Amino acid sequence: MSKMKEKICVITGSNSGIGKEAAIGLAEMGATIVMVVRNQERGEKARTEIVKQTGNDSVDVMICDLSLMSSIRHFAEEFKKRYDRLDVLINNAGASFSKREVTAEGFERNFAVNYLGPFLLTYELLDLLKSSAPSRIINVSSGLAKNGKVDLDDLQGEKHFAETKFYSSSRAPAYDNAKLMLMMFTYELARRLKGSGVTANVLMPGFTATNLGKNSGSLGSYIMFKMVRPMQQSAKKGAETSIYLASSDEVKDLTGKCFAKKKEVTSCPGSYDEELQKRLWNKTESMLGLASDQSMY
Ligand SMILES: NC(=O)c1ccc[n+]([C@@H]2O[C@H](COP(=O)([O-])OP(=O)(O)OC[C@H]3O[C@@H](n4cnc5c(N)ncnc54)[C@H](OP(=O)(O)O)[C@@H]3O)[C@@H](O)[C@H]2O)c1
Repeated sequence: MSKMKEKICVITGSNSGIGKEAAIGLAEMGATIVMVVRNQERGEKARTEIVKQTGNDSVDVMICDLSLMSSIRHFAEEFKKRYDRLDVLINNAGASFSKREVTAEGFERNFAVNYLGPFLLTYELLDLLKSSAPSRIINVSSGLAKNGKVDLDDLQGEKHFAETKFYSSSRAPAYDNAKLMLMMFTYELARRLKGSGVTANVLMPGFTATNLGKNSGSLGSYIMFKMVRPMQQSAKKGAETSIYLASSDEVKDLTGKCFAKKKEVTSCPGSYDEELQKRLWNKTESMLGLASDQSMY
């Protein structure tokens, strides 16, 4: 119960699915959980369940829409007013949209929620993670990253969509691309953080019965997700690797690695292209308006 006592864990998207189970697992170990959610009501409902199930009432709910960079910046400011340390950041929130949509800030939604948001959230919290070291960053990617492609001239799939009009009914290629970018971000981040006491690892949770796909904007995708339910593992099982990376002593010094089923694994070959990782990093910083003198590393 007390293994994670005194540890503060931020988990994005922890009102549902894998994130909620990760929150339960870490709350059971005594951690303080900061649930980062986009909807107060859903967050409070999940918080009540987590507290009831674990007997740990150090569970906070904070609001942030990961698709909006303004919301992330605001959240980070509020977080720093409430907390003076951060031991574990789990970038878990994710969503898949099968229709091409852009946010009010002009970013394609799959790209914004699954890649750009976690990049900026990490940037905004990094000073605290560094001052709290040893600390851990855990990025939840997907096995679908292997289908992804990183085109630096078309990161948000605008040209691709204009040419092909292709957005699959069952899932969006833009989701796979963003999950690949998240993986590449993790590897570059880990290199830049060497010696800081902050580790950065990525994981693939496996095919899991959650709400993912439910709000994808496509009935076909939703029905497909329902049909495959019997083949999916439980959300509790899906959260095991997140919990392991957040809490196990076995991985305390490991960084820049990919994990599945609590084991280190090799990710898709494209994810290891260091030159592309660096160029993606620079391009992302400039998209976020981060001047090089503000660069996180
Ligand atoms: N399920 C799988 O088979 C599978 C496989 C590989 C990878 N993953 C990854 O695992 C992670 C967890 O997903 P899940 O399967 O547990 O799905 P889920 O049940 O749908 O949970 C996703 C969480 O992300 C939150 N979220 C979505 N958009 C957000 C936004 N704009 N701002 C803030 N929070 C947002 C959701 O909040 P709301 O409840 O408000 O929508 C929810 O709490 C995701 O990164 C997903 O890509 C899942």
